[in-house]
Amino acid sequence: MASQNRVTSVSSLCFLFISFHSILKIKQITAQNKPVFACDVISNSSLANLRFCDKSFDFQTRVNDLVMRLTLQEKIGFLVSGSQGSERLGIPKYEWWSEALHGVSDVGPGTKFVSPVPGATSFPQVILTAASFNETLFQTIGKVVSTEARAMHNVGLAGLTFWSPNVNIFRDPRWGRGQETPGEDPILSSKYGAAYVRGLQDRDDGDKDRLKVAACCKHYTAYDVDNWKGIERYTFNALVSKQDLDDTFNPPFKSCVLDGNVASVMCSYNKVNGKPTCGDPDLLKGVIRGDWNLNGYIVSDCDSVEVLFDNQHFTKTPEEAAALSIKSGLDLNCGSFLSKYTESAVKKGLVEEADIDIAIKNNFLTLMRLGFFDGDPRKQLYGELGPKDVCTDAHQELAREAARQGIVLLKNTKGSLPLSPTSIKSLAVIGPNADVDHTMLGNYEGKPCKYVKPLQSLTAAVATVYQPGCANVACSTAQIDSAKKVAAEADAVVMIMGTDQSIERESLDRVNITLPGQQAMLISEVAKVSRGPVILVIMSGGGMDLQFAKDNPKVTSILWVGFPGEKGGAALADVIFGYYNPSGRLPMTWYPQAYADKVAMTNMNMRPDPASGYPGRTYRFYTGPTIYEFGYGLSYSVFSHKLVQAPEHVVFPLDEEHECRSSTCASLAVVDQSCENLAFDVHLKVKNVGKMGGSHTVFLFSSPPSVHNAAQKHLVGFEKVQLSPQAEGLVKFNVDVCKHLSMVDELGNKMVALGEHVLHVGDLKHSFNLNI
Ligand SMILES: *[C@@H]1O[C@H](CO)[C@@H](O)[C@H](O)[C@H]1NC(C)=O
Ligand SMILES: *[C@@H]1O[C@H](CO)[C@@H](O)[C@H](O)[C@H]1NC(C)=O
Ligand SMILES: *[C@@H]1O[C@H](CO)[C@@H](O)[C@H](O)[C@H]1NC(C)=O
Repeated sequence: MASQNRVTSVSSLCFLFISFHSILKIKQITAQNKPVFACDVISNSSLANLRFCDKSFDFQTRVNDLVMRLTLQEKIGFLVSGSQGSERLGIPKYEWWSEALHGVSDVGPGTKFVSPVPGATSFPQVILTAASFNETLFQTIGKVVSTEARAMHNVGLAGLTFWSPNVNIFRDPRWGRGQETPGEDPILSSKYGAAYVRGLQDRDDGDKDRLKVAACCKHYTAYDVDNWKGIERYTFNALVSKQDLDDTFNPPFKSCVLDGNVASVMCSYNKVNGKPTCGDPDLLKGVIRGDWNLNGYIVSDCDSVEVLFDNQHFTKTPEEAAALSIKSGLDLNCGSFLSKYTESAVKKGLVEEADIDIAIKNNFLTLMRLGFFDGDPRKQLYGELGPKDVCTDAHQELAREAARQGIVLLKNTKGSLPLSPTSIKSLAVIGPNADVDHTMLGNYEGKPCKYVKPLQSLTAAVATVYQPGCANVACSTAQIDSAKKVAAEADAVVMIMGTDQSIERESLDRVNITLPGQQAMLISEVAKVSRGPVILVIMSGGGMDLQFAKDNPKVTSILWVGFPGEKGGAALADVIFGYYNPSGRLPMTWYPQAYADKVAMTNMNMRPDPASGYPGRTYRFYTGPTIYEFGYGLSYSVFSHKLVQAPEHVVFPLDEEHECRSSTCASLAVVDQSCENLAFDVHLKVKNVGKMGGSHTVFLFSSPPSVHNAAQKHLVGFEKVQLSPQAEGLVKFNVDVCKHLSMVDELGNKMVALGEHVLHVGDLKHSFNLNI
């Protein structure tokens, strides 16, 4: 509202001036919007008498004071994302919906890219950043994004509440939104979620009660079907076992809340076991608020409350839908459904005003923690940030670094990569993704600072000739002859293929996981006539059946670059010419097309079912053929592992009278006390035995005894180390038995299996016995 007034007053001023220069000056002033904030005691000193504006009281007291002052109608205005505010109390309208999945984004209405901030740093799409397996990087990106967000907030161009990250498990290779996630593994997703949330939220002054910006982990839960063969997320009922919910779908959300202290969780569109997630008190009040003790607000997807009524017909009346969601524990409705139906729901006695108070208190507390009720943010911590702090050289360099760290080398025949920029006299660059800019961002993007396209970077290094080969990624008719002609004459060929948002995106799951249209044919035809190395680059969110290229000796190298962000072209050239030694590893299994042909995307089961031939999902449960495995990725160097410390036996302390002392037990229920301090160290020596320095990710996996349908193996931890040639490093894992080696049984109980556990690192295996 404040900015609205300003615009009106300035434009009326326009009539007073006649010179062109003055009008220009005024245009500049109008563009410098003010931030939105409450308790503007400078403009209205009587606001200082309101306790909720008084910083000397604690947040809870201030929140209670504020809620006490509101009428029912006003309260309802604070239940929705386009929050109404209260003019009489000096609270402006606030738009809750902003996004920052991999950079500040204008997908939500709370953020705008206009002068003086026309763009923000656009990092790689999350699936590629996850491939870096570097927790420091995850958090550093979050920190840069929140700095740019605060800078934009200070000039009225962004909110303070960002509905990122997306921590749903990338369960099926066809999912159009898999690109937004950190992949298929619950441990990686948990670590990514917590680190990115900390990067967004944590303040430099260490004040844990306050937030730099508020993050939101979404979409809770078991949400990963968008639109597959006409089955849509709005009506999809995910049938999920308690076991899969507790050991696959929920852990990233739990980690967001417990390890990252996230300020918000978003419930999803889909139903889980017949109930809409935004209307299920067990999932919201029970788990998020009860078991995990969320300090923040629960928000609906946009607009999943409406969806549970309109699409799912879960309640008979809209008022019942409003009441159900609020009573289940929903605090904020993205959309306007609750503003329309809550008052009548109260009048009908379906929901109490006290329930609404609980919800808006959670919302206000979050805004308090953000400083929204502390007056002008430009006078608070981060008040100095402004347009000069967005798209800085350092931030853009981090975007390039993130892409470099994520890029995965999938195949490399001796003598292929890296290409020598001095001996390559002509490079043929072919493919529909070679000269793209916007494609590099993936979805939930913002406006980038400045693109560096693949073709542009390759051309800066060596002489290139370019042929797109296909009109677009759909590649219905490949332009084979022109592509072959340039390939036959070049010293080396780089083919940049894959997908874009027309193939995989929100509301569009794939049916096939092969390269679209005639891309594969083009690749094979070009490879046939090439004289030198053929480097196949796949730009995509999801995995691809590349068996044909993997098997073709004339395709000498394969790189996966995800959607690599605004500096993706530069990062790709860094890897191709050996200025950076690739270190990314796949955060998801790459399946053959046969998998997609056989498995219904809608089957949520993680575990295989031998009776029906259902093969299960992800490296934890699926044992069938893959194109590339989870964790796969090559380097220009070679790293060796040596185990230097690991236990032979681990004894689980158990009371004398415990029933498992007298009878044989295959597993023990994890009771927290008996688990305390039950941990051991695994130490490994890692040596770079190659000729090039680089980073290397060490994965520690564990295979438990096969009880309770446990995963065949699961990640215990990962550690990335940087090693110069011939250098050796020590990598230490502290393995907490009950945290890292436990499993969830069929009923959702946390158990530790007794007997032989096998630890794996690369090709190394080490067994130890866990006994009582
Ligand atoms: C100043 O704030 C008081 C207290 O909320 C309010 O009653 C009054 O209308 C405000 N004055 C102006 C000019 O906005
Ligand atoms: C998937 O592949 C099959 C066989 O190649 C093809 O007939 C079909 O059109 C493809 N479907 C889609 C949606 O691309
Ligand atoms: C992890 O990322 C950080 C931030 O970019 C970087 O400084 C560090 O070198 C990376 N670690 C490894 C082992 O590559």
